[in-house]
Formats: sequence, C-alpha cells, structure tokens
Amino acid sequence: MITDISTAVIFLKQGKLIGLPTETVYGLAADAKNLIAVKKVFAAKGRPADHPLIVHIGRIEELQEWAKDIPPEVYHLAKRYWPGPLTLILQKQDHVLPEVTGGQDTVAIRMPNHPLALELLRQFGSGLVAPSANQFGRISPTDEAAVLAELASQVDLVLPGGRSKVGIESTILDLHQKPFTLLRQGMIGKEELEAFLGEPILLPSEKTTVRVPGLLASHYAPRTPLKLIGRHELDQFVMTKHVFIPCDTQPDVYAHELYAALRKADTEGVDVILVERPPQTSEWAAVLDRLARAAHT
Ligand code: TXA
Ligand code: MG
Repeated sequence: MITDISTAVIFLKQGKLIGLPTETVYGLAADAKNLIAVKKVFAAKGRPADHPLIVHIGRIEELQEWAKDIPPEVYHLAKRYWPGPLTLILQKQDHVLPEVTGGQDTVAIRMPNHPLALELLRQFGSGLVAPSANQFGRISPTDEAAVLAELASQVDLVLPGGRSKVGIESTILDLHQKPFTLLRQGMIGKEELEAFLGEPILLPSEKTTVRVPGLLASHYAPRTPLKLIGRHELDQFVMTKHVFIPCDTQPDVYAHELYAALRKADTEGVDVILVERPPQTSEWAAVLDRLARAAHT
C-alpha cells in the first residue's frame, strides 16, 4: 500500500489520473492546479465543461489556499464534520482554474474521510479534483471493480480502498452567501446542519443560478429503466423480467448498499429494476433524491 501511495503521488505530479477511494464514492483524481490534468478528467468522464469539480484537501490549513472571505461558520463545520461527507462552497481564490469552478467565482472543497485518501492528499501536499469516477450521468462507483468498469482505460492506477462506507455522494452546502443553501442532499442532512448552525438553510429550488449536475433530473442512472414502486404494486410485474430491491429499515445501511445493488441489477439483463419506495422522511431525503434521479428517463 505504501508503494501504491507513492506511485499515485508520482502519477498525479505527472498529470495522470487515478481512482481515489473515499468514504462516499470513488473519485477520479487529478492535480487541481494542472490544467491539462483537469481537462483529462472532463474528457474521461464525458462531462460538460461547465460542471464544476470539488477540490479535495488533506488539511484544514489548506482551505485558505483555495478559498477567500471564509465565514467563521466554515471552521465550525470543518471542525465537526471534516474529514467527512460534507462539501463546502466558498468564494474562490484568484488562482483557482476556471476549468475547476465551471467559470464561477466559487469553489467546492471537502476533506474525505478515508485513510488512503487522507494519506495520499497529505503526501501530495496540494488539492486534488475528484469527481465521482463514473461516466457522466451514470451510477457512482463504490469499489475498485466499479471504477474499472466505468473508466479502466482512463485511469493509470486505482487505490484499493475497499467498499465506500457511506455509499452516496457528499452533502453540498453553499456558504458563499447568506442564507446558506443545500445544493446536494447527503447523509449529513439539512435538519442536522440547521440545528448545528442554529439557522435555517435554503433548498436549491429557491435558487436556480448555480450549476450542479447532480441537480439534473436524470443522473446516477443505470442503463436499465428503474421504477419506484410500493410493495403492493409488485404483483403487477409478475410477467415482467425484473429485479426487485426492497427497502431497509436503516437509511445508512441502505445508502451503503444502494449503488452496488443498482450496478449489479444493471448487469442482469432484466427489463426493469423495481425499487421499493422508501418513506418520505428527512432521514431518507438523500436516498430518495438519488432514487428519483435514477428513475427519471
Ligand atoms: O462525495 C463526493 O462529493 C464525491 C467524492 C469522490 O468526493 N465527489 C463527487 O463529485 O460527487 P462530482 O463531481 O460527481 O460532484 C460534484 C458536485 C457537482 O454536482 C458540482 O456541480 C458541484 O459539486 N459543485 C462543484 N463546484 C461547485 C460550485 N462552485 N458551485 C456549485 N456546485 C459546485
Ligand atoms: Mg458525480
């Protein structure tokens, strides 16, 4: 593993792309200061150029290198949730490549909670862009095999970090102006953040100027059509070749398994993936968000 990390550092310094394990999903990592490497990331994913990337850092002190006019709440949040599945949107420093920010004056930053990712970032000593390591619009990978299924010929190395613990992408909170806005639901929920900060947070529906591809109606999608159903509706599909994914009692357990289950179902040659609709409660909000987008065709 030590050799893997030193090789990864060398590759990244050379402008190559690597598969990066994180606690949420695997990322396609590149040196955030290397324009050619950043462009390779967009090409590898087939991602439109105006969709910004997250800069991943290994130390809180690196925040000021990427962001300015940092409000005090940021340090408060970072202390509590970093390393962890929370991405913060802040005013960018002038040097940050417009290719990284999609031409916007803000930058997304997070510190991933995975021992290999943290060790790599600390040895690399600077920020790494790391969008989820999937083809644009498809299911994010949660293990090494899934990264190779998506991007085998585009990565020079995948660090083997095992199955991602959280299983769905980080919560994204925009702190660059008040009121703060939740741009992407994640396992750190809106209510929890509102309670922690002691102030209300808006949902993106109230703000339409920011580009977040996770907000496209169709995203995180398998190739097979996916339908959200109630368990009682299952009888209607006896004649259809399908896979059924039942709901769980715990959202965190369910999120951990979800993308692997969808990826597997997608290889089974069925006509439809039937997913039991989870309860419409706040603890299921992030999972419901991903399922709704996966179901949209
Ligand atoms: O959990 C995660 O965040 C994973 C792991 C690998 O860290 N990464 C991830 O990256 O999900 P990606 O590129 O698939 O999604 C990044 C999201 C996009 O929806 C993008 O639009 C949003 O972050 N984003 C990045 N910079 C932004 C900015 N300046 N303003 C608003 N949204 C931004
Ligand atoms: Mg993604």
